[in-house]
Amino acid sequence: MSKKILLLHGPNLNLLGMREPGIYGAMTLERINALAAAHVHQYKVELRAEQSNHEGALIDILHVARNWADGVVFNPGAYTHTSVALRDAISAVALPVVEVHLSNVHAREEFRHRSLLAPVCVGQIAGFGWRSYMLGLDALMGHLGLLPEPPL
Ligand code: DQA
Repeated sequence: MSKKILLLHGPNLNLLGMREPGIYGAMTLERINALAAAHVHQYKVELRAEQSNHEGALIDILHVARNWADGVVFNPGAYTHTSVALRDAISAVALPVVEVHLSNVHAREEFRHRSLLAPVCVGQIAGFGWRSYMLGLDALMGHLGLLPEPPL
């Protein structure tokens, strides 16, 4: 049976393309979602993409994902640095989550250096623009055992 991945985008990411393109790039969210779907297609993975600007809505989406998804690639936006509630939701649903950021949060303002979510995620990818999402998908698919193993 094919695996299902939730691609989840947090606040302000609906504005990608026009939002601080020097930091976040010129690509729209719609285009990133299309590239992501194409990226996982060869592994027979089904991708569903969602975006919300609201903390509670993101929590609800994670709760629902518990019933259908095998894992999540999540850009939590600014909630990365503030949300105990999202951290608890990730722990509660017990799905593997890969945290991704377009920008290198560690090279920016100090308040972006800390992620409240990273400790309950499988790992974090940051700094590669739209490719962070593709790398995050690869990381999750590898974690789910969907990628070929190199010979020993
Ligand atoms: C971001 C980094 C966050 O610090 C910021 O609040 C965002 C986007 C990124 O993808 O680089 O909204 O998650």
